[in-house]
Amino acid sequence: MKKVVILTGAGMSAESGISTFRDSGGLWEEYRVEDVATIEGYQRNPELVLNFYNERRRQLPLVRPCHGHELVAELEKDFDVTVITQNVDNLHERAGSTKVIHLHGELDKATSTWSPNDPKQIVTLPPDHPDIHIGDTAADGSQLRPFIVWFGEPVPEIERAAMISSKADIFVVIGTSLNVYPAAGLIQYVPENAPIYLIDPKDVPWTSGHRFHHIKKGASEGMEELTQLLQKERL
Ligand code: OAD
Repeated sequence: MKKVVILTGAGMSAESGISTFRDSGGLWEEYRVEDVATIEGYQRNPELVLNFYNERRRQLPLVRPCHGHELVAELEKDFDVTVITQNVDNLHERAGSTKVIHLHGELDKATSTWSPNDPKQIVTLPPDHPDIHIGDTAADGSQLRPFIVWFGEPVPEIERAAMISSKADIFVVIGTSLNVYPAAGLIQYVPENAPIYLIDPKDVPWTSGHRFHHIKKGASEGMEELTQLLQKERL
């Protein structure tokens, strides 16, 4: 089976009702990135940061995968699909995708403030007690924090994602403004002869030398068109 690698961003979950970051009305108009998505912000005001992610986490059971997430999962019938997502929601998994790499962490998990990437410290929060409070502790005794990669922190999954991107037969980008590195840099690893499809209703600044096919539609409609286009690529 051909390898399809799909890089997704906030626009993938927009039709499920989760706000994007940089569109008008996006989250970064309401909150300052420095306050809620950096380690310095967390050190300054941990309660604000915990509450920001508690709110996002409480939204999870109230939203559902959109048709676009479902079509991404259905591609597994004909292709070896890996989803590399910048999203911290679990909508790809809930739609049925089996290989999902979360570059920026996972909202339904928590970890240690001292060693956030130590697998022994990472726990899944129970859906009936989803909030993290000041005073909740990880296994190492430190304050429990969201399992989210903040700006300025290492992105532990990037090497695995780069390796998988370098093996792609077909690469797809859905709903990301490609503003944030190293995620946006993954395109540089895609083999030159692999076609790249971009699904986004808006123009996205494209800095790579690859040729790409822009499906200028939202995630669900765009995935319908892509599913048709990929029919001829099945082996
Ligand atoms: P952005 O908000 O920067 O970009 C969202 C993209 O989705 C834009 O290009 C929109 O045009 C597009 N879009 C909007 N509605 C869409 C729809 N219905 N279907 C398809 N596309 C649509 O979000 P990201 O690129 O994901 O990181 O942002 C990257 C990272 O920046 C996030 O993971 C987050 C943020 O700060 C951290 O918090 C560490």
